Amino acid sequence: MKSIVILISGRGSNMEVLLDAVLPGRIAAVISNRPGSPGLALAASRGVATSVVDHKAYPDRAAFDAALAEEIERHGPDLVVLAGFMRVLGDDFVRRFEGRMMNIHPSLLPAFPGLDTHGRALSAGVKLHGCTVHFVTPTLDNGPIIIQAGVPVFPSDDTPRLAARVLEQEHRIYPQAVRWFLEGRLSLTAAGTVRLEGDREEGASLCVPALDPAP
Ligand code: GAR
Repeated sequence: MKSIVILISGRGSNMEVLLDAVLPGRIAAVISNRPGSPGLALAASRGVATSVVDHKAYPDRAAFDAALAEEIERHGPDLVVLAGFMRVLGDDFVRRFEGRMMNIHPSLLPAFPGLDTHGRALSAGVKLHGCTVHFVTPTLDNGPIIIQAGVPVFPSDDTPRLAARVLEQEHRIYPQAVRWFLEGRLSLTAAGTVRLEGDREEGASLCVPALDPAP
C-alpha cells in the first residue's frame, strides 16, 4: 500500500481532512517544523506517528532541509504532502522529492503567491478567488497546477469570511489530488506538466465556483 507523509506548521485542518478521507494509501507520519503545532496533537490523537524537526534548532536552511529530508525518508513515503507547511524549502530538497511532493495554496495561482492571500485578493478587488494544489518546484508557491477551486468574492466580504469560503474548497480539492496520486492517475511529466488520466473530457481538475448568493 502506498504511503504519505504530511508536513504541517500549525492548525492542520487540511491534514485533518486527509486523515478523515478514504484514501487508497496510508498516512505514515505527520511532521511539523513547530513543536507547538495544534495539528500534531490532533494527528497523535488519531494514532498517527508524529515528529518535530524544529527549524530553530539548525544553523541554516541547508541543515534544516537535510534533517527534514532524513526524517521523511525514514518513512519511505510515495508522496509528501505540504499542508500549511510555512517554511521555504531549498532547491536540493525540492529536487529530491520532485514529482512526489505537493502543496496547497490559498489563492488561484499564479495570482497571490506568498502570505496574506485573502487580504491581497480583497485589496485587488478580484471577483474570483480560490485555492490551488500544485506539484512543488523550487520557486515558492509555484509549480505545475493539479487542481483549482474558485470561490466568488462578495462586496460584503472581509478577510475571515473569504478565508473560510476558500478553506472549505481546500478541504475538497486536497483529498481529491492526493487520491489521484495514490491511484496512480496523477504524475508530473518530464516536460514539467501535469498528467491526469481521465481528465481530458471531465475537467475534473477544475472546481467551478459555487455561485451561492452573497450572505
Ligand atoms: C491553508 O489555508 C493553506 O492553504 C495555507 O496555510 C493554511 C493552513 O491551514 N498554506 C499556504 O499559505 C502555503 N503557501 P491548515 O493548517 O488548517 O491546513
